[in-house]
Amino acid sequence: MDTIDKVDGAVLLKKGAEASLFIADWHRRKVVIKMRVPKRYRPKELDEQIRSYRTVHEPQLMHEAKTAGVPTPLIYMVNVPESLIVMEYVEGQQVKQLLNGASKSERHEVCVKIGESIAKLHRHGLIHGDLTTSNMIQTPQGKIVFVDFGLGEKNMELEAQGVDLHLLKRALQSTHYQFWEECLQSVLCGYTSVLGALAAEKVYGKIREIERRGRYVEERKQ
Ligand SMILES: Nc1ncnc2c1ncn2[C@@H]1O[C@H](COP(=O)(O)OP(=O)(O)O)[C@@H](O)[C@H]1O
Ligand SMILES: [Mg+2]
Repeated sequence: MDTIDKVDGAVLLKKGAEASLFIADWHRRKVVIKMRVPKRYRPKELDEQIRSYRTVHEPQLMHEAKTAGVPTPLIYMVNVPESLIVMEYVEGQQVKQLLNGASKSERHEVCVKIGESIAKLHRHGLIHGDLTTSNMIQTPQGKIVFVDFGLGEKNMELEAQGVDLHLLKRALQSTHYQFWEECLQSVLCGYTSVLGALAAEKVYGKIREIERRGRYVEERKQ
């Protein structure tokens, strides 16, 4: 299999700004094909470089996340010239949808697991880069699988960890505004339980600093 048209019955799952995702049957497996499409506004050579880099980089980070103890989809194939990744289709429900229909205790349980996983990534020097509840899937067995490492990086710095968690906070505020505070508390509870209070508090200090900087920039604009 080289190109998408050779895959049986590929069905579009999502057409995003950066990539298109298809669900397909590949060697009798249900898979997701993530294909990075050319961007006309970028010079051709640069565009190819960016797409190749992300196509290689994303599966590498997914692999490292597994090593860190965070579930991610199995990668079946990487095709750099075509900028596509073939990975396991994760059965389950997007955490974004799940949280809206869950009870308070279910929300707590899910968010604690999310916090634990983020702490495991950070402890391992991994930054997810796009922590939103759309990029997490709960399996029928209750595992939370993280996807979409396209904006991730290897970085041990407190600043990067703070930004990662700050982004999740913003995502919770905009997507789950009825109970974002409660969800964030549960996430931090899980995060602290893995990293320990001392290390976790340093990251929380960073989040506060990032927010102060944000407010300062806003005030200067007025
Ligand atoms: N392996 C997978 N199995 C099942 N669903 C997936 C898988 N990968 C992605 N998805 C779903 O598709 C959506 C878009 O994929 P994602 O990798 O986040 O692309 P984008 O960069 O466009 O956000 C995700 O939010 C997730 O719900
Ligand atoms: Mg995504």
